[in-house]
Amino acid sequence: MQVLTVATTPFSDQKPGTSGLRKRVPAFQQPNYLENFVQSIFDTIAAPSGATLVLGGDGRYYNREAIQIILKMAAANGFGRVLVGQGGILSTPAASCVIRKYGTYGGIILSASHNPGGPDGDFGIKYNGSNGGPATEAVTEAIFAKSKSITGYRILDAADVALDELGETALGAMTVQVIDSVADYAELMESLFDFGAIRELLSGGFRIKFDAMHAVTGPYAREILVTRLGAPADSVMNAVPLPDFGNGHPDPNLTYAHELVEIVYGKDAPDFGAASDGDGDRNMILGKGFFVNPSDSLALIAANAKLAPGYRQGLAGIARSMPTSEAADRVAQALGIPCYETPTGWKFFGNLMDAGKVTLCGEESFGTGSDHVREKDGLWAVLFWLNILASRRQSVEAIVREHWAKYGRNVYSRHDYEGIPSDAANGVMKLLKDSFESLKGAQFGHLQVKLCDDFSYTDPVDGSVSTGQGIRILFVDGSRIVFRLSGTGTEGATLRIYLENYEPDVSKHHLDAQEALATLIGIALKISELRLRTGRDAPTVIT
Ligand code: G1P
Ligand code: ZN
Repeated sequence: MQVLTVATTPFSDQKPGTSGLRKRVPAFQQPNYLENFVQSIFDTIAAPSGATLVLGGDGRYYNREAIQIILKMAAANGFGRVLVGQGGILSTPAASCVIRKYGTYGGIILSASHNPGGPDGDFGIKYNGSNGGPATEAVTEAIFAKSKSITGYRILDAADVALDELGETALGAMTVQVIDSVADYAELMESLFDFGAIRELLSGGFRIKFDAMHAVTGPYAREILVTRLGAPADSVMNAVPLPDFGNGHPDPNLTYAHELVEIVYGKDAPDFGAASDGDGDRNMILGKGFFVNPSDSLALIAANAKLAPGYRQGLAGIARSMPTSEAADRVAQALGIPCYETPTGWKFFGNLMDAGKVTLCGEESFGTGSDHVREKDGLWAVLFWLNILASRRQSVEAIVREHWAKYGRNVYSRHDYEGIPSDAANGVMKLLKDSFESLKGAQFGHLQVKLCDDFSYTDPVDGSVSTGQGIRILFVDGSRIVFRLSGTGTEGATLRIYLENYEPDVSKHHLDAQEALATLIGIALKISELRLRTGRDAPTVIT
């Protein structure tokens, strides 16, 4: 087999975002497009000859083709071994788990997370380092720089490798080892949670419904929830990963997981509902007719962590992204452990976990996780909840309400204005920044502004500073309004408004979040001139 050096010219649009390079499938199908980016990764990471790589993806359209190309390029670039998930499948947290368990040099994950798939959908690729977490910004910048000056890539002239049978195949001097996509991850979950107690809960008639949304978690949920924990087979819905996710939008929220939402709010609802996204790192948790806000979920997991065997020794600390509600802070305070407030995006948690400063972390955007891997982890959150439910033997709603009664309720909502013109979005942000002085001390009914700023963060581990991470309007009573521009939207700009109000009074805990936040919503619209500047009279998505 011959190593070919193929001449190529750069593409200008290969700047990876925080979750890697994401583009439409047709972009990736252009000749040399994927190859250029992969060679740029290999040139940047400069792995020693004979190193081991992990490779897998969420099964979306173009996954298999991309895996064949990457395998042949890895062989031509001196890798000794690639661990590839069977059929090319590895969820993002499972890939992180495999990298860590086998101490590999790193891994390549193929996914565009919760974005739709299919021939006209999205595809993505990202590199994770030896800690199992996404590459640092310095590495992704270096990959981008390489991609702009690339002149050629190396690839082995070889036939495709069979990916559906477990075992080893030689590809030139490299070994391709097809591994079970689920086994290592399932074993890790079994080491963290009380599977015996969960099995007992499920055999006692406690009914669950997990929606894999035709994406990667189907085989994981079947193995763990059905085979190992004994849930009836129909507890997992949309369990077969499809290249186009059944034409759905695999994002576990109240809007896109409506099939599941209808079931848990319907007649004969199960006791517990959950969903995960395209690549298995997000989670939504539901009770019978009850939605658990992801910020509350993080706080609740923290408060009940010792019920799970893997966390029995307690937590080193908690981290949450700035716009995530302060519910977790209250739990940290009660536990006497630190709570770190980081900018949005998972990469900030990795440093804290590697340094042993935090055990749990989470974001309001349906991402929760711990130091067992270096990615957020959807099924892990589901199992944590099942472990808590198995120990406490109360309903999801009762557990949440008891939590609020004890700690007070951080009433929370996020309003997204999607696809607005960038000029209008930037105008809103500028207006707010220009108003900091006049807003400080301003009185709105019973609410007084204490402080306004543009959030910046100094990483306590490496000292790096991230500025411009979202505008915060903080009120004297602890209420907050945060304005942030999305970094992941694809069309125009997405402006997110995060609203939070602390309610210690149990008699008001029955209120709907939108009702309870009405005053804050009014203030947010007024000070941002959002309606006037965007012509929108309602958010696109309310969570
Ligand atoms: C969104 C979420 C953020 C998450 C990111 C990647 O980013 O808000 O919490 O880390 O997706 O999953 P945004 O579009 O807000 O920049
Ligand atoms: Zn995801």
